[in-house]
Order: sequence, then C-alpha cells, then structure tokens
Amino acid sequence: MEKQRSFSVKSTRFLGLIIAIISSAIVFLIFFSISLLKSNPTTSEANFQIDLSPIASISEISNNISNSSISPKASPILNSTHFNPSVNTSGSEKIPGFDQKIRGKEEDKVTSIKVIELRSNNNGEEIKKKKMRIEECDVTKGKWVYDSDYPLYTNTSCPFIDEGFGCQSNGRLDLDYMKWRWEIQDCDAPRFNATRMLEMIRGKRLVFVGDSINRNQWESMLCMLFQAVKDPKRVYEARNRRITKEKGNYSFRFADYKCTVEFYVTHFLVREGKARIGKKRKETLRIDAMDRTSSRWKGANILVFNTAHWWSHYKTKSGINYYQEGDQIHPKLDVSTAFKKALQTWSSWVDKNVDPKKTRVFFRSAAPSHFSGGEWNSGGHCREANKLLNQTFKPSYSGKNIIVEEVLKQMKTPVTLLNVSGLSQYRIDSHPSIYGTKPENRRSKAVQDCSHWCLPGVPDTWNHLLYLHLLHKR
Ligand SMILES: *[C@@H]1O[C@H](CO)[C@@H](O)[C@H](O)[C@H]1NC(C)=O
Ligand SMILES: *[C@@H]1O[C@H](CO)[C@@H](O)[C@H](O)[C@H]1NC(C)=O
Ligand SMILES: *[C@@H]1O[C@H](CO)[C@@H](O)[C@H](O)[C@H]1NC(C)=O
Ligand SMILES: *[C@@H]1O[C@H](CO)[C@@H](O)[C@H](O)[C@H]1NC(C)=O
Ligand SMILES: *[C@@H]1O[C@H](CO)[C@@H](O)[C@H](O)[C@H]1NC(C)=O
Ligand SMILES: *[C@@H]1O[C@H](CO)[C@@H](O)[C@H](O)[C@H]1NC(C)=O
Ligand SMILES: *[C@@H]1O[C@H](CO)[C@@H](O)[C@H](O)[C@H]1NC(C)=O
Ligand SMILES: *[C@@H]1O[C@H](CO)[C@@H](O)[C@H](O)[C@H]1NC(C)=O
Ligand SMILES: *[C@@H]1O[C@H](CO)[C@@H](O)[C@H](O)[C@H]1NC(C)=O
Repeated sequence: MEKQRSFSVKSTRFLGLIIAIISSAIVFLIFFSISLLKSNPTTSEANFQIDLSPIASISEISNNISNSSISPKASPILNSTHFNPSVNTSGSEKIPGFDQKIRGKEEDKVTSIKVIELRSNNNGEEIKKKKMRIEECDVTKGKWVYDSDYPLYTNTSCPFIDEGFGCQSNGRLDLDYMKWRWEIQDCDAPRFNATRMLEMIRGKRLVFVGDSINRNQWESMLCMLFQAVKDPKRVYEARNRRITKEKGNYSFRFADYKCTVEFYVTHFLVREGKARIGKKRKETLRIDAMDRTSSRWKGANILVFNTAHWWSHYKTKSGINYYQEGDQIHPKLDVSTAFKKALQTWSSWVDKNVDPKKTRVFFRSAAPSHFSGGEWNSGGHCREANKLLNQTFKPSYSGKNIIVEEVLKQMKTPVTLLNVSGLSQYRIDSHPSIYGTKPENRRSKAVQDCSHWCLPGVPDTWNHLLYLHLLHKR
C-alpha cells in the first residue's frame, strides 16, 4: 500500500534520530501488513451479504437544507477523524516531514486522515483488535472523513465525465466535495485499487443497467479504472462514440484486461412503449415485460441494476392509462403497485436468465435528491449547499425501498443490495446544482440538478462499495 511505502521511506530517513519513531513505525508497518493480509479475499459466503432495508427514494425525499450546513471542522460526526493541532500526540508532532508531505498536495485546512492513522500507532494493538474484517462490516455504518488523497481522479485525468456531471469543468469553484471518503465503522476496509479491480474483471463484462443515476455511477467506474491504465489508447468505446445524455448504449473496452464496462439506459427496467387508447396512440409502460435491451444484458458477469426516480406521480402520468399488462391498459393504477409488479417482472427475468455461478447481481438502492424550496420541475435548488449534512440529520426511508426488499427476498438468485441511500443523504454538497451544464448552455437559473452527482464525487463511493463486495464474496 502507498501509505506503508511512504512511511517506511520516512522512517529510514529519521532512523538515526529518534528511536521512538522507529518503534512506532514498526508498529505502523505491522498494522498495515495485517490490513493487507486481511484484505485478501478469504471468506466464502453469506457474511458480507447485507442490505435489505428500507431505502430512500429519490422522488420521496427532498431534504430541507436551509439549516443543515456545518463546517467540516465543526462537525460532530467528523471531529474525531480530523487532526486537531491542539491535541498533543507524540506521533504526529515529532515528524514534521511526514506531516508536511501529506499536506503537500494542497493547502488543506483540515489535515489528512493519515495523521490520525499515524497517531493510532501508539495503541495499534488495541485498534487492530477492535476493527472487524471487511466481510463482517456493515458498510452502511460509518462517517465521511476528509481525505487529502481524494479525489481518485480529476476532470483532467478522466476523459469520460460528460457535461452533466463535470461540475468543475462547468465552473464550480469549491472543491471540498471531492475530498470526502466514506469510512466504514470499526472496519478494516481496503482502499479502492483500480489495478486489482481490473484484474477481478479480466475477461469479463461489468454491466450497469438503469437510469441516468446509473450512468452517473458507470462513468465514475470508467474514471476510477482508467487511472490504472498505462496506455489511454487501450481503452475505447466499441463503436467509438462519445458519451452523451442522448445515447443509452455503451460498451467500453479495456483492451489490456479484455474486459468491458457497459451501460444500458432503461428508466424503469421494464418496457416503455405505445398503445392505442381510444383513437390515439399513447405512451404506456409494460410492467409485465422487460426492457428491449434486456437480451444484451445476458451473459454479463457483474450486473448492477437500479430504478427509482422515474417512478413518480408526474413521470408516470399519474398512473392514468399508463401501465399496461398484455393487452390490458390499467385506467388507473397506483405507483407502488406498478413498481412492485415491474420489479417482479425484473426478478423473474433475473431468475430465469442469470446463472449465479457465472454472474453476480447487484441492485443499487435509490440515491437521494436534495431539492429545497421546490422540486426538480418547480424551481427547487441546492446551490447554496456546499457542506455535508450534520449528524442530527437522520436518513429517511420510503415505501419503495420496502418493496425492493420484499422482491429481493423472494428471489432464487442471490442479489446484493448496494445500500447507498443513507450515506448519500449526508452529501447535499455534491450535486451539480447549476454546474450540470456549461455556462454557455445554461438557459435558466431556475433549473438546478439536485438529483445527479458531480464527478468525482459520491458515486465513487458507491463503486468502492461495489469493489468491496466483489473482493469479499468469492
Ligand atoms: C493494487 O493491486 C495490485 C494488484 O493486485 C498490487 O500489485 C498493488 O500493489 C496494489 N496497490 C496498492 C496501492 O495497494
Ligand atoms: C441500509 O442503510 C441504512 C442507513 O444507511 C440502514 O439504516 C439500513 O439498515 C441498511 N440496510 C441494511 C439491510 O443493512
Ligand atoms: C436557518 O438559517 C438561516 C441563516 O443561516 C436563518 O436565517 C434561519 O432563521 C434559520 N432557520 C431556522 C429554522 O433555524
Ligand atoms: C444540524 O442541523 C439541524 C437541522 O437539520 C439543526 O437544527 C442543528 O442545530 C444542527 N446541528 C449542528 C451541530 O449544527
Ligand atoms: C468530538 O470532540 C469532542 C471534544 O474533543 C469530544 O468530546 C467528542 O466526543 C468528539 N466526538 C466524537 C464523535 O468523537
Ligand atoms: C506535549 O507533550 C510533551 C511531552 O509529552 C510536553 O512536554 C509538551 O508540553 C506537550 N505540549 C502541549 C502543547 O501540551
Ligand atoms: C478542469 O477544470 C478546470 C477548472 O477548474 C478547467 O480550467 C479545465 O479546463 C478543466 N479541464 C477539462 C479537461 O475540462
Ligand atoms: C445498442 O447497440 C446495438 C448495436 O449497435 C444496436 O443494435 C441497438 O439498437 C442499440 N440499442 C439502443 C437502445 O441504442
Ligand atoms: C425548510 O425548513 C424551514 C424551517 O425548518 C422551513 O421554513 C422551510 O419551509 C423548509 N423548506 C422546505 C422546502 O421544506
């Protein structure tokens, strides 16, 4: 690990100087060697399976942000992980060089979490005992910590960020939102290692299927993986297309690993179509039939599904003459019933078409939106939010999550729920707001994007969780 390496270099430099530091360096090395060993995938089944809980639906959650901002330093959630200069700790104070190096990247007001790791040398043994092996951890329990090593990529090191998520390229100036890492409580979770991830998917198809929030996560994954690629030309889209909002069908090939990272857009997972109602042909949703692209998802080795925020009253035409089963169009059907039927259609498809021996299936829980003073279509905003929500904020749940939970439980195929709802709800700071478009394309200040996420940003954490799941259930 990088940490380990940089520390051992440092410790030799200081070797002749302070004996105490050497000994703490050794403890430090041992501590991280143990973490490395532990990070090997050794467990078989079940332990790391989690996540069947109520989750937040994008359409039902709109957190009131007006009084929730707090500075990272003042936050009760975060204070324990930030280096506080007034705290007298033998480890960090005596090694100015080390301290400097980790601050080096930019002038962080908040010092790197690495300092804290250093401090833990003193009682490394104790900490080692307390921390659980990753497969025993509940990844939904944790806190956001400021990490000067973040982000994992930038707008210049990743060519795949499309305009909608490229906040920095669109003029967003504050950059703190990129620097938060989700730290799982009492857990020895390894950092994301792009090389290792690419090795895990060597010769395989990693396929994201869902709405634009899944496109968000898919682009994040492309960016994260791209950092480990030596020759950029060895990564290309199958039909050489650039990513745009309009097209919904991409396959990026990482030639050195003979793998593809694909995305198929489908808002509902089930089939959108048209049917004759009276004299007119109108849009309907076939809740009993899969989306037309489903044949192309078959044979994927890792499938990551989502669907959530299109299931709203507005987008489903209030359920009037919209939902269709066979030839029958329901004159009126409530969204929960339709959602459940659609998910059952999806689950039958998975049970019938997916071989659990070859394919790992994930369903990502709903990502929260954070509109204030209105909804996405009525002047809602989130521009003033540039801090995380504080600890008093409690993640909320929706009926749709319970439906997802019920459906997953009844399936034959094991499906892992990527439970990102709660941790994402704190991240009110990370939406594009007005920076979802280039300044010259901004038509109206009234329309803000408080649903998607800037990249780099929160979806990187979802992918880190995906990585941890893949590492530890083999
Ligand atoms: C990342 O994984 C690769 C392959 O498993 C390994 O060689 C490398 O040392 C890892 N890097 C870090 C920083 O742990
Ligand atoms: C999903 O995460 C939320 C909070 O983030 C938690 O309350 C819930 O219990 C989690 N679900 C499961 C099955 O762990
Ligand atoms: C929220 O914060 C604003 C400004 O920080 C303040 O004017 C307002 O009174 C606060 N509202 C509540 C309900 O605390
Ligand atoms: C946290 O936010 C709530 C409102 O969401 C506010 O009432 C409370 O005072 C805040 N706490 C701190 C410590 O800022
Ligand atoms: C934050 O710091 C205060 C004072 O140092 C301490 O009392 C409190 O327990 C800390 N909070 C957490 C969550 O560690
Ligand atoms: C820090 O600790 C050392 C010895 O442990 C002591 O000499 C020094 O005064 C302390 N500094 C502060 C600011 O408390
Ligand atoms: C990255 O963002 C900066 C603004 O912070 C901008 O100047 C630069 O052009 C962007 N790079 C790309 C490749 O978009
Ligand atoms: C996806 O790509 C295939 C192959 O080019 C094409 O036949 C198909 O129509 C595309 N589907 C969509 C939804 O764009
Ligand atoms: C947010 O909360 C404040 C005070 O708690 C309230 O006055 C305001 O109407 C709320 N805004 C929204 C959009 O719910």
